[in-house]
Amino acid sequence: MQELKIGFIGGGNMAEALIAGLKRGGHAGDKICVSEPQQQRRDVLASQYGVQCVAQNADTAAGADVLVLAVKPQQMQAALGGLSARLKADATVVSIAAGVTTASLHGWLGEQTHIVRVMPNTPALLGAGMSVLFSQADEVHKQRTEYVLNACGECLRVEAEKQMHAVTAVSGSGPAYFFLLAEVMQATGMKLGLDEAMAAKLAAQTALGAGKMLVESGRSAEALRHQVTSPGGTTQAALDVMYEMGMPAAVRQGVVAASKRSEELS
Ligand SMILES: NC(=O)c1ccc[n+]([C@@H]2O[C@H](COP(=O)([O-])OP(=O)(O)OC[C@H]3O[C@@H](n4cnc5c(N)ncnc54)[C@H](OP(=O)(O)O)[C@@H]3O)[C@@H](O)[C@H]2O)c1
Repeated sequence: MQELKIGFIGGGNMAEALIAGLKRGGHAGDKICVSEPQQQRRDVLASQYGVQCVAQNADTAAGADVLVLAVKPQQMQAALGGLSARLKADATVVSIAAGVTTASLHGWLGEQTHIVRVMPNTPALLGAGMSVLFSQADEVHKQRTEYVLNACGECLRVEAEKQMHAVTAVSGSGPAYFFLLAEVMQATGMKLGLDEAMAAKLAAQTALGAGKMLVESGRSAEALRHQVTSPGGTTQAALDVMYEMGMPAAVRQGVVAASKRSEELS
């Protein structure tokens, strides 16, 4: 996999996260090419990661074994103009744009193109992302995509494209749900007498610790919740109020709303 030539169309936040991850994993900078309209951005990426940076998307597409489409959804169609003729026949085209369907990508690039659609999330910027891929292309294209996405976190697959709506609702938008919880915990800690820095630190480190327990303990969220809730104790008092005020229902309906919005947008 380290021999693959990897191209990025768009050199923004997500492209940088993936490039940083690939470099950490030992992928050579001269095997990575980025096309990006802003000269300043090209200079930053070239000097920081030693990757090749160009202005024309066609130049990136021409040499790529894997071409990552890392522009905003509304920029996608324009960014792909004229690229299909430049792609290698066996190139893997990976779109990380939210809501852009495989059918649209095939429409813009041709039915023969090997498309993999991915939904990443923001923690990818720190190497802790959760990405999910969908593809009807051959296994080799899925494995190449996993190689790129694993560089900045974990990557799973779904078998049906319509499942991408649920993925978007849970892991795509999910970081914001945890940020809201941390925000409210911090504000309430301050109301209860903590200073801002202390309240922010307590909320953030608690989120990190709870996340690590969820990922590393091998126990379910429900089991972990029971484990830290002594009958009649402080946690029980908090959870009783949260249930009574409808927190689980609010979260459930919020996640469903995100999924519906994802359907509408695509
Ligand atoms: N950030 C996230 O957490 C996240 C999570 C899930 C999915 N995604 C998806 O990842 C994609 C990239 O997001 P991002 O946050 O990295 O966006 P971003 O920072 O705006 O990066 C996009 C880059 O592409 C450049 N660009 C615009 N038009 C182009 C063209 N025609 N050809 C080549 N490059 C072009 C933009 O330049 P200008 O600034 O000059 O327009 C910008 O530098 C989006 O489709 C988004 O849906 C992002």
